This record gives sequence, structure tokens and C-alpha cells, in this order.
Amino acid sequence: MNNNIYIANLKMNGNIQLIDKYINIFKDYNENNLIILCPPFTLLGYSSHIINSNQSILSLGAQNIHHETEGAFTGEISANLIKPYSEFSIIGHSERRLNGESNEIITKKIITCFKNNIKPILCVGEYNYSDNVDETFKIIELQLKPLKNIILDSQLSLLIAYEPVWAIGNNNACDPDRVGEIANFIKSFTTNNININEVNILYGGSVDDKNHEDYLNQKNINGLLVGSASLDPSKFFKIVTNNR
Ligand code: PGA
Repeated sequence: MNNNIYIANLKMNGNIQLIDKYINIFKDYNENNLIILCPPFTLLGYSSHIINSNQSILSLGAQNIHHETEGAFTGEISANLIKPYSEFSIIGHSERRLNGESNEIITKKIITCFKNNIKPILCVGEYNYSDNVDETFKIIELQLKPLKNIILDSQLSLLIAYEPVWAIGNNNACDPDRVGEIANFIKSFTTNNININEVNILYGGSVDDKNHEDYLNQKNINGLLVGSASLDPSKFFKIVTNNR
């Protein structure tokens, strides 16, 4: 297993120059951590080419896939289409859930990922902060429950990013101890209910080069999903290399 997992979610941003900066800044990096760059679809081909030709340590992920693998779905992208470039895909990001993506569709997408050898990065999390953490547990349990029925191959592995929606993109990061508590809940739920080889739990929501260590210090957190701060490759590199 890798020590830590760091995901750069560029969302609907970026260009070739930004990808080149990523390649450049990670040029001499050789720690045993997994770094996954998730650019927009249109940059996956270029990113894959430049990663291979530079023998870069970076891995690639898509930001979403359709649950069907082909067909008449104008404007959509399938697992088949990203597979030549991308080892991972984010699934169920809150910015997609807010556009109407249901737990049922998200579950179908996870199945499609597993069938097509794409490793899913499942995002879960509550919309509104509640003082009562049990309420948050209930919401997350509802989001994870469908996995009980689908994961049959115990050799598979899953990344789960806990991303409280109220903490995304606003410098209002979640309290690290609370993240730790929720990670413990996710760990025990998945251990007791899901037949899978490995689950890694990440935190995402206003992670930056000042607060990142506080999350990685939590027992069951071994990765970070970074949005805004990933648009500055040197900031993202600081997060990965632990320099404040
Ligand atoms: P943020 O985004 O780091 O800008 O909060 C995280 C995410 O939405 O994945």
C-alpha cells in the first residue's frame, strides 16, 4: 500500500500549461505516495501522453463517468472512453449530486468502474453541518449502504473521500477531530458490511498547505482530495511534501 494518497481535482479548470507545470514540479519526486491528477476530460489524453513520455510518478483520474459503457448519451463520457488514459475516476462528487445524481445512479457507476478496471474514488458527505455527529453518520450510512449489495470480488479496492459539502471551496475546512471520528465510522461500516480487499479513506474540503497535516494525523485518514489548492501546482506540491 502507498503511504498517502493525494488527489488533485482540477474541476472545470486547467489547460496544457497547468499539466506541464504538474509534470515539472513532480519531476524528481520519488516518495512512496500515490498522486492522482484529475483534469477535465479534454486534458486526459494530453496528460496521459506527457506522463508516459516523462516517466512521471503521477497517476490519472477522470472526474466522472456515465454508468453505461456506450450508447446514445450525447455529451457523456464512458468508462470505455477514459480507460486508455485513466486508472481512476471520481464518482458521486457533491457538485454532481447537487445536479441530481442519486445514490442509485452512483451505485451503478461504481459497478461500471469495477467491471471496467477503473478504480472508483467515491465521494460521500453531508450538505449541512450538524452539531450532532450521529446525524452525519446516518447520512453517510445511507450513501454507503448500496455498496453492501454490489461488491462481490474481495480483491477489489475502493477509495472513499469524506467531503462535507459545507466545507468545500470556502476556507471553512472541517474540524480535523470530527473528520477523524467520521473516518472511524466509515472504516467500521465498510469493514463490517462490505466484502472488499482494501478501503482507503480521504478527506476533502478546503484542504490547503496550512491544514493538511491535521487531517493526515487522524488514524483512519490516509489521503486528501484537494480542489481549489490544486489549481496552484506549487501549493499542491507543498501539501504532498508536507512543507508549511
Ligand atoms: P476544495 O474542493 O478543496 O476547493 O474545497 C474539494 C472538492 O470539491 O473536491
